[in-house]
Amino acid sequence: MDRPFLDLAPCGPLRGSLRVPGDKSVTHRGLMLLALAQGEGRLFYPLKAGDTLSTARAMQALGAEVLEEGPHFRVRGQGLRLREPEDVVDCGNAGTLMRLLLGILSGQEGLFAVLTGDASLRRRPMGRVVEPLRAMGASIDGREGGKKAPLAVRGGGLKGVSYTLPVPSAQVKSALLLAGLFAEGVTEVVEPVPTRDHTERLFRHFGLPLEAEGPRVRTRRAEPFPARDLTVPGDFSSAAFFLVAALLTPGSEVTVEGVGLNTTRTGLLKVLREMGADLEWQVVEGEAGEPVGWIRARYSPLKGVSVDPGLIPLMVDEVPVLAAAAAWAEGETYIPNLSELRVKESDRVAAIAHNLRALGVGVEEGPDWLRIQGGGVKPGEVEPFHDHRIAMAFAVAALPVGVRIWEPHWAEISYPGFFQDLKRLCGAS
Ligand code: S3P
Repeated sequence: MDRPFLDLAPCGPLRGSLRVPGDKSVTHRGLMLLALAQGEGRLFYPLKAGDTLSTARAMQALGAEVLEEGPHFRVRGQGLRLREPEDVVDCGNAGTLMRLLLGILSGQEGLFAVLTGDASLRRRPMGRVVEPLRAMGASIDGREGGKKAPLAVRGGGLKGVSYTLPVPSAQVKSALLLAGLFAEGVTEVVEPVPTRDHTERLFRHFGLPLEAEGPRVRTRRAEPFPARDLTVPGDFSSAAFFLVAALLTPGSEVTVEGVGLNTTRTGLLKVLREMGADLEWQVVEGEAGEPVGWIRARYSPLKGVSVDPGLIPLMVDEVPVLAAAAAWAEGETYIPNLSELRVKESDRVAAIAHNLRALGVGVEEGPDWLRIQGGGVKPGEVEPFHDHRIAMAFAVAALPVGVRIWEPHWAEISYPGFFQDLKRLCGAS
């Protein structure tokens, strides 16, 4: 069968400004919480892409009304009590959807639901949410004893627990906090290493019970709560591709506007600055408890660094694009603490190493680290391994020399229009 591909010509300086699509994490959570609220609320400027459309469909299957209003969504919630879905719920490629929804469904008294997903999602570890949810009393079964989807849930009978996250994961934390809204007593999550805190901020936005004290976050059973409109900031993870593209293409200057600057997401800015990047940013406003502002990147000769392992959870989705920057830096870049990247949409450690090699870059791959020899890339072909971020990161890595990208449509999981935006900025003078 013919595989689709896209040939990108070498790109000149990137100049201009852009707004990137809405934040994926906030859109998933916004849709879920509005589906649990009472009455109607609007989600302004959400991400409308593969992953979040899976969430919209899932919440509809569970009884919420989700209507498109131009670029926005209008959601009519079910007021904490969801409807039993008539069929298997397909989570597509979206790990956030499957894990957070398991938390919500575990709390739905008597409701039965089966969750599945695409081949990538069915390979991903679900035991990390299933085990603590079972400790709360959830009844969940599935493939490999409940470690893999499809997963079947019979909701109800939850009791709060205190759970310390064994690996930093905002998805696990969020699944337990959502389950905690339906549990007897207090549900506490302890995170030794901070992860993105969008769920906590949205709980506050909707007036849901939440206490945060250092590494501990607690919630308890929620009373029915009214819907409230919510504006989704631009996705920092999507902005990151354009920032790095500008840094490594001589003569470039790009400004991303209206982008989320939550510091649990922006670890990449620190690493890039340490590499010598000319980057400025400023928070201008707050949207639903999230800081929002602009980021400007100008072409900068970069140098290799040894990345602080503690920063990885604050840039867990930006490692592929950091590898693109490292390929163009002078000297070696060492990126540790990557074990979680092995269980993303693809094995991202292997996918990064494969594509760097395909572009003529020296790379060594360890079980949870990468060592990248900088100095530039040669024209070649990019294999996304069914992973949106690999497709976009390696389009960026090869931008100055041109590249063939196989199956470019994978970018649409989080960024429909990515290649159009890239071409527009390359062409603008
Ligand atoms: C996400 C958390 C991260 C991230 C994913 C989105 C979220 O996953 O990689 O893209 O919205 O909570 P983990 O929680 O598995 O680290």
